[in-house]
Amino acid sequence: MIIGIETTAHTFGVGVVSNGKVLANVKDMYKPVSGGIIPVKGAEHHKLVAQQIWDDALSRAGCCDKDIEAIAVSNAPGLAPCLLAGLNFAKLQALRLNVPLVPVNHCIAHLEIGQSVGATNPVLLYASGANTQIISFAMGKYRVFGETLDNGVGNFIDTFGRYVGISFPAGPVLEEKAKNGKFIELPYSIKGMDVSFSGILTKMKQLYDKGVKIEDLAFSMQEHVFAMLVESAERALAHTGKKELVLGGGVACNLRLQEMCRLMCEARGAKMFCPAREFLVDNGGMIAYTGEILFRAGIQKKIEDVDIAPRERTDMVEVCWKN
Ligand code: ATP
Ligand code: FE2
Repeated sequence: MIIGIETTAHTFGVGVVSNGKVLANVKDMYKPVSGGIIPVKGAEHHKLVAQQIWDDALSRAGCCDKDIEAIAVSNAPGLAPCLLAGLNFAKLQALRLNVPLVPVNHCIAHLEIGQSVGATNPVLLYASGANTQIISFAMGKYRVFGETLDNGVGNFIDTFGRYVGISFPAGPVLEEKAKNGKFIELPYSIKGMDVSFSGILTKMKQLYDKGVKIEDLAFSMQEHVFAMLVESAERALAHTGKKELVLGGGVACNLRLQEMCRLMCEARGAKMFCPAREFLVDNGGMIAYTGEILFRAGIQKKIEDVDIAPRERTDMVEVCWKN
Protein backbone atom coordinates (compact mmCIF):
# COMPACT_ATOMS: atom_id res chain seq x y z
CA MET A 1 0.00 0.00 0.00
CA ILE A 2 1.03 3.57 -0.66
CA ILE A 3 0.10 6.38 1.74
CA GLY A 4 -0.41 9.90 0.38
CA ILE A 5 -0.21 13.12 2.36
CA GLU A 6 -1.82 16.34 1.07
CA THR A 7 -0.65 19.53 2.69
CA THR A 8 -0.23 22.31 0.10
CA ALA A 9 -2.79 24.78 1.47
CA HIS A 10 -5.81 24.64 3.78
CA THR A 11 -6.34 20.87 3.74
CA PHE A 12 -4.41 18.20 5.59
CA GLY A 13 -5.36 14.87 4.06
CA VAL A 14 -4.16 11.28 4.17
CA GLY A 15 -5.09 8.70 1.56
CA VAL A 16 -4.34 5.00 1.25
CA VAL A 17 -4.10 3.33 -2.16
CA SER A 18 -3.51 -0.20 -3.31
CA ASN A 19 -3.45 -1.21 -6.99
CA GLY A 20 -5.11 2.01 -8.13
CA LYS A 21 -7.91 1.68 -5.58
CA VAL A 22 -8.37 4.38 -2.95
CA LEU A 23 -9.04 2.47 0.30
CA ALA A 24 -9.26 5.54 2.54
CA ASN A 25 -9.37 9.29 2.00
CA VAL A 26 -9.49 11.29 5.25
CA LYS A 27 -8.95 15.01 5.65
CA ASP A 28 -9.40 18.02 7.83
CA MET A 29 -9.53 21.58 6.58
CA TYR A 30 -8.23 24.72 8.25
CA LYS A 31 -10.88 27.41 8.11
CA PRO A 32 -9.81 30.97 8.90
CA VAL A 33 -12.21 32.67 11.34
CA SER A 34 -12.37 35.66 9.01
CA GLY A 35 -10.54 36.74 5.87
CA GLY A 36 -8.27 34.56 3.77
CA ILE A 37 -5.91 31.76 4.71
CA ILE A 38 -2.89 32.70 6.87
CA PRO A 39 -0.12 30.27 5.89
CA VAL A 40 1.46 29.84 9.37
CA LYS A 41 -1.97 29.24 10.90
CA GLY A 42 -2.61 26.60 8.24
CA ALA A 43 0.69 24.96 9.17
CA GLU A 44 -0.25 25.00 12.88
CA HIS A 45 -3.53 23.31 12.01
CA HIS A 46 -1.75 20.63 9.97
CA LYS A 47 0.68 19.84 12.82
CA LEU A 48 -2.21 19.56 15.25
CA VAL A 49 -4.36 17.16 13.21
CA ALA A 50 -1.67 15.16 11.35
CA GLN A 51 -1.35 12.15 13.65
CA GLN A 52 -5.09 11.74 14.08
CA ILE A 53 -5.84 11.95 10.35
CA TRP A 54 -3.01 9.48 9.68
CA ASP A 55 -4.33 7.00 12.27
CA ASP A 56 -7.87 7.39 11.04
CA ALA A 57 -6.95 6.80 7.37
CA LEU A 58 -4.87 3.72 8.15
CA SER A 59 -7.54 2.16 10.31
CA ARG A 60 -10.28 2.84 7.74
CA ALA A 61 -8.13 1.19 5.07
CA GLY A 62 -7.37 -1.74 7.34
CA CYS A 63 -3.70 -0.94 6.84
CA CYS A 64 -0.89 -1.86 9.28
CA ASP A 65 2.60 -0.33 9.37
CA LYS A 66 4.09 -3.36 7.65
CA ASP A 67 1.78 -2.92 4.61
CA ILE A 68 3.25 0.49 3.80
CA GLU A 69 5.69 0.45 0.89
CA ALA A 70 6.20 4.20 0.47
CA ILE A 71 4.86 7.57 1.54
CA ALA A 72 3.84 10.02 -1.16
CA VAL A 73 3.76 13.67 -0.17
CA SER A 74 2.63 16.77 -2.02
CA ASN A 75 5.83 18.82 -1.78
CA ALA A 76 4.82 21.33 -4.50
CA PRO A 77 3.39 23.85 -5.30
CA GLY A 78 1.73 25.66 -2.42
CA LEU A 79 2.17 27.72 0.72
CA ALA A 80 5.63 27.12 2.15
CA PRO A 81 4.68 26.79 5.86
CA CYS A 82 1.88 24.34 5.02
CA LEU A 83 4.13 22.31 2.71
CA LEU A 84 6.84 22.15 5.39
CA ALA A 85 4.43 20.99 8.10
CA GLY A 86 3.29 18.10 5.89
CA LEU A 87 6.76 17.19 4.64
CA ASN A 88 8.17 17.09 8.18
CA PHE A 89 5.35 14.79 9.26
CA ALA A 90 5.90 12.58 6.18
CA LYS A 91 9.63 12.38 6.94
CA LEU A 92 9.02 11.36 10.54
CA GLN A 93 6.73 8.56 9.41
CA ALA A 94 9.11 7.45 6.65
CA LEU A 95 11.98 7.35 9.15
CA ARG A 96 9.91 5.37 11.64
CA LEU A 97 8.77 2.86 9.00
CA ASN A 98 12.03 2.85 7.04
CA VAL A 99 10.26 3.42 3.69
CA PRO A 100 11.09 5.85 0.84
CA LEU A 101 9.31 9.10 0.03
CA VAL A 102 7.64 9.86 -3.31
CA PRO A 103 7.36 13.62 -3.92
CA VAL A 104 4.18 14.50 -5.84
CA ASN A 105 3.29 17.77 -7.56
CA HIS A 106 -0.18 18.70 -6.29
CA CYS A 107 -1.48 19.92 -9.67
CA ILE A 108 -0.34 16.74 -11.37
CA ALA A 109 -2.19 14.73 -8.73
CA HIS A 110 -5.41 16.58 -9.67
CA LEU A 111 -4.72 15.53 -13.28
CA GLU A 112 -3.81 11.91 -12.61
CA ILE A 113 -6.82 11.23 -10.38
CA GLY A 114 -9.00 12.77 -13.11
CA GLN A 115 -7.82 10.04 -15.43
CA SER A 116 -8.80 7.31 -12.95
CA VAL A 117 -12.40 7.69 -14.13
CA GLY A 118 -11.76 6.42 -17.65
CA ALA A 119 -10.10 9.00 -19.87
CA THR A 120 -6.95 7.91 -21.66
CA ASN A 121 -5.57 10.99 -23.41
CA PRO A 122 -7.57 14.01 -22.31
CA VAL A 123 -7.44 17.76 -22.16
CA LEU A 124 -7.77 18.77 -18.51
CA LEU A 125 -9.62 21.74 -17.17
CA TYR A 126 -8.04 22.29 -13.78
CA ALA A 127 -10.08 24.88 -11.90
CA SER A 128 -9.26 25.16 -8.21
CA GLY A 129 -8.62 27.81 -5.60
CA ALA A 130 -5.10 28.85 -6.47
CA ASN A 131 -4.86 27.36 -9.96
CA THR A 132 -6.68 27.67 -13.25
CA GLN A 133 -5.07 25.89 -16.16
CA ILE A 134 -5.97 24.09 -19.37
CA ILE A 135 -3.49 21.24 -19.61
CA SER A 136 -2.74 18.37 -21.91
CA PHE A 137 0.00 15.76 -22.11
CA ALA A 138 2.35 16.29 -25.05
CA MET A 139 5.97 15.26 -25.61
CA GLY A 140 6.82 14.07 -22.11
CA LYS A 141 5.14 16.77 -20.07
CA TYR A 142 1.80 18.10 -19.00
CA ARG A 143 1.81 21.26 -21.13
CA VAL A 144 -0.13 24.33 -20.11
CA PHE A 145 -2.22 25.47 -23.10
CA GLY A 146 -3.98 28.26 -21.25
CA GLU A 147 -4.09 29.64 -17.73
CA THR A 148 -5.16 32.51 -15.56
CA LEU A 149 -3.14 35.68 -15.83
CA ASP A 150 -4.00 36.76 -12.29
CA ASN A 151 -5.93 34.76 -9.63
CA GLY A 152 -7.12 31.20 -9.65
CA VAL A 153 -10.86 31.06 -10.39
CA GLY A 154 -11.66 29.70 -6.90
CA ASN A 155 -9.72 32.47 -5.17
CA PHE A 156 -11.53 34.99 -7.34
CA ILE A 157 -14.90 33.50 -6.32
CA ASP A 158 -13.87 33.42 -2.64
CA THR A 159 -12.60 37.02 -2.77
CA PHE A 160 -15.93 38.20 -4.12
CA GLY A 161 -17.71 36.07 -1.52
CA ARG A 162 -15.69 37.70 1.24
CA TYR A 163 -16.60 41.15 -0.11
CA VAL A 164 -20.29 40.37 0.21
CA GLY A 165 -19.98 38.64 3.60
CA ILE A 166 -19.86 34.98 2.56
CA SER A 167 -17.16 33.02 4.35
CA PHE A 168 -14.68 30.64 2.72
CA PRO A 169 -15.34 28.62 0.61
CA ALA A 170 -17.85 30.85 -1.19
CA GLY A 171 -18.22 28.72 -4.35
CA PRO A 172 -20.98 26.40 -3.10
CA VAL A 173 -22.99 29.27 -1.51
CA LEU A 174 -22.82 31.38 -4.68
CA GLU A 175 -23.83 28.34 -6.76
CA GLU A 176 -27.01 28.10 -4.65
CA LYS A 177 -27.69 31.82 -4.97
CA ALA A 178 -27.15 31.68 -8.74
CA LYS A 179 -30.22 29.45 -9.06
CA ASN A 180 -32.41 32.49 -8.37
CA GLY A 181 -30.45 35.00 -10.42
CA LYS A 182 -30.88 36.61 -13.81
CA PHE A 183 -28.34 37.56 -16.45
CA ILE A 184 -26.54 40.87 -16.43
CA GLU A 185 -23.57 41.68 -18.59
CA LEU A 186 -20.08 41.52 -17.07
CA PRO A 187 -16.64 41.82 -18.68
CA TYR A 188 -15.61 38.70 -20.64
CA SER A 189 -11.88 38.40 -20.30
CA ILE A 190 -10.03 35.92 -22.46
CA LYS A 191 -6.74 36.70 -24.18
CA GLY A 192 -5.59 34.04 -26.59
CA MET A 193 -5.91 30.92 -24.47
CA ASP A 194 -5.48 32.76 -21.17
CA VAL A 195 -8.15 34.12 -18.86
CA SER A 196 -8.17 36.81 -16.19
CA PHE A 197 -10.57 37.64 -13.41
CA SER A 198 -9.46 40.89 -11.77
CA GLY A 199 -11.49 43.15 -14.07
CA ILE A 200 -14.61 41.06 -13.54
CA LEU A 201 -14.05 41.17 -9.78
CA THR A 202 -13.81 44.96 -9.78
CA LYS A 203 -16.98 45.24 -11.87
CA MET A 204 -18.89 42.85 -9.61
CA LYS A 205 -17.86 44.77 -6.50
CA GLN A 206 -19.01 48.04 -8.11
CA LEU A 207 -22.35 46.54 -9.10
CA TYR A 208 -22.82 45.09 -5.62
CA ASP A 209 -22.11 48.51 -4.07
CA LYS A 210 -24.76 49.99 -6.39
CA GLY A 211 -27.31 47.54 -5.00
CA VAL A 212 -27.39 44.84 -7.68
CA LYS A 213 -28.74 41.61 -6.16
CA ILE A 214 -26.20 39.02 -5.07
CA GLU A 215 -28.26 36.30 -6.84
CA ASP A 216 -27.96 38.13 -10.17
CA LEU A 217 -24.24 38.67 -9.67
CA ALA A 218 -23.70 35.02 -8.74
CA PHE A 219 -25.62 33.77 -11.79
CA SER A 220 -23.94 36.16 -14.20
CA MET A 221 -20.50 35.51 -12.76
CA GLN A 222 -20.93 31.78 -13.41
CA GLU A 223 -22.22 32.31 -16.95
CA HIS A 224 -19.32 34.57 -17.92
CA VAL A 225 -16.44 33.00 -16.08
CA PHE A 226 -17.30 29.39 -16.83
CA ALA A 227 -17.90 30.26 -20.50
CA MET A 228 -14.34 31.64 -20.60
CA LEU A 229 -12.96 28.39 -19.17
CA VAL A 230 -15.04 26.27 -21.54
CA GLU A 231 -13.95 28.39 -24.53
CA SER A 232 -10.28 27.90 -23.75
CA ALA A 233 -10.78 24.18 -23.06
CA GLU A 234 -12.62 23.79 -26.37
CA ARG A 235 -9.81 25.45 -28.29
CA ALA A 236 -7.31 23.12 -26.62
CA LEU A 237 -9.43 20.17 -27.80
CA ALA A 238 -9.55 21.59 -31.32
CA HIS A 239 -5.81 22.28 -31.39
CA THR A 240 -4.69 18.90 -30.04
CA GLY A 241 -7.40 16.91 -31.83
CA LYS A 242 -8.15 15.12 -28.56
CA LYS A 243 -11.60 13.75 -27.82
CA GLU A 244 -11.74 13.73 -24.02
CA LEU A 245 -12.13 16.45 -21.40
CA VAL A 246 -11.39 15.79 -17.74
CA LEU A 247 -12.33 18.17 -14.93
CA GLY A 248 -10.27 18.74 -11.79
CA GLY A 249 -10.04 21.13 -8.84
CA GLY A 250 -12.63 22.30 -6.34
CA VAL A 251 -14.45 24.68 -8.71
CA ALA A 252 -15.26 21.69 -10.91
CA CYS A 253 -17.73 20.65 -8.16
CA ASN A 254 -19.99 23.33 -9.64
CA LEU A 255 -22.85 21.67 -11.52
CA ARG A 256 -23.29 24.57 -13.93
CA LEU A 257 -19.64 24.35 -14.95
CA GLN A 258 -20.03 20.59 -15.41
CA GLU A 259 -23.14 21.14 -17.53
CA MET A 260 -21.44 23.72 -19.75
CA CYS A 261 -18.48 21.39 -20.27
CA ARG A 262 -20.80 18.51 -21.10
CA LEU A 263 -22.71 20.58 -23.67
CA MET A 264 -19.50 21.74 -25.32
CA CYS A 265 -18.19 18.17 -25.50
CA GLU A 266 -21.45 16.84 -26.94
CA ALA A 267 -21.43 19.53 -29.61
CA ARG A 268 -17.99 18.50 -30.84
CA GLY A 269 -18.26 14.73 -30.33
CA ALA A 270 -15.95 14.57 -27.32
CA LYS A 271 -16.48 12.85 -23.95
CA MET A 272 -16.46 14.53 -20.57
CA PHE A 273 -15.16 12.90 -17.39
CA CYS A 274 -15.54 14.23 -13.87
CA PRO A 275 -14.22 12.50 -10.74
CA ALA A 276 -16.31 12.31 -7.55
CA ARG A 277 -16.42 15.42 -5.38
CA GLU A 278 -14.03 14.06 -2.73
CA PHE A 279 -11.35 13.77 -5.45
CA LEU A 280 -11.99 17.19 -6.99
CA VAL A 281 -11.15 19.20 -3.87
CA ASP A 282 -7.78 18.85 -2.15
CA ASN A 283 -7.37 15.35 -0.73
CA GLY A 284 -4.76 12.79 0.25
CA GLY A 285 -6.33 10.10 -1.95
CA MET A 286 -5.14 11.76 -5.15
CA ILE A 287 -1.61 12.10 -3.72
CA ALA A 288 -1.55 8.40 -2.82
CA TYR A 289 -3.04 7.48 -6.22
CA THR A 290 -0.40 9.49 -8.10
CA GLY A 291 2.31 8.37 -5.68
CA GLU A 292 1.57 4.75 -6.50
CA ILE A 293 1.91 5.39 -10.24
CA LEU A 294 5.25 7.16 -9.70
CA PHE A 295 6.50 4.54 -7.26
CA ARG A 296 5.70 1.70 -9.67
CA ALA A 297 7.58 3.67 -12.34
CA GLY A 298 10.64 3.60 -10.10
CA ILE A 299 10.42 7.08 -8.58
CA GLN A 300 11.40 7.07 -4.91
CA LYS A 301 13.63 9.29 -2.81
CA LYS A 302 15.64 9.13 0.36
CA ILE A 303 14.26 11.23 3.16
CA GLU A 304 17.13 13.73 3.04
CA ASP A 305 16.71 14.24 -0.73
CA VAL A 306 13.16 15.65 -0.61
CA ASP A 307 12.47 19.33 -0.07
CA ILE A 308 9.48 21.57 -0.64
CA ALA A 309 9.12 23.38 -4.00
CA PRO A 310 6.45 26.05 -3.40
CA ARG A 311 6.64 27.44 -6.96
CA GLU A 312 7.07 24.32 -9.08
CA ARG A 313 4.87 24.59 -12.20
CA THR A 314 2.95 21.74 -13.78
CA ASP A 315 5.06 21.95 -16.94
CA MET A 316 8.36 21.74 -15.02
CA VAL A 317 7.78 18.10 -14.09
CA GLU A 318 9.25 15.40 -16.36
CA VAL A 319 6.38 12.93 -16.72
CA CYS A 320 8.51 9.83 -17.19
CA TRP A 321 5.71 7.47 -16.09
CA LYS A 322 3.59 8.14 -19.22
CA ASN A 323 4.32 7.74 -22.90
P1 ATP B 1 -5.20 24.43 -5.38
O1 ATP B 1 -5.57 23.11 -5.96
O2 ATP B 1 -4.94 25.41 -6.41
O3 ATP B 1 -4.14 24.32 -4.33
P2 ATP B 1 -7.28 24.83 -3.46
O4 ATP B 1 -6.57 23.90 -2.63
O5 ATP B 1 -7.69 26.12 -2.86
O6 ATP B 1 -6.43 25.11 -4.71
P3 ATP B 1 -9.54 23.08 -4.01
O7 ATP B 1 -9.63 22.43 -2.67
O8 ATP B 1 -9.30 22.22 -5.18
O9 ATP B 1 -8.56 24.26 -4.14
O10 ATP B 1 -10.88 23.92 -4.23
C1 ATP B 1 -11.33 24.93 -3.37
C2 ATP B 1 -12.00 26.00 -4.19
O11 ATP B 1 -13.13 25.46 -4.89
C3 ATP B 1 -12.52 27.15 -3.35
O12 ATP B 1 -12.09 28.34 -3.97
C4 ATP B 1 -14.04 27.00 -3.45
O13 ATP B 1 -14.75 28.23 -3.38
C5 ATP B 1 -14.21 26.35 -4.80
N1 ATP B 1 -15.47 25.62 -4.91
C6 ATP B 1 -15.87 24.55 -4.19
N2 ATP B 1 -17.13 24.18 -4.54
C7 ATP B 1 -17.53 25.05 -5.51
C8 ATP B 1 -18.73 25.20 -6.27
N3 ATP B 1 -19.77 24.41 -6.10
N4 ATP B 1 -18.77 26.20 -7.19
C9 ATP B 1 -17.71 27.01 -7.38
N5 ATP B 1 -16.56 26.92 -6.69
C10 ATP B 1 -16.46 25.95 -5.76
FE1 FE2 C 1 -5.91 21.60 -5.08
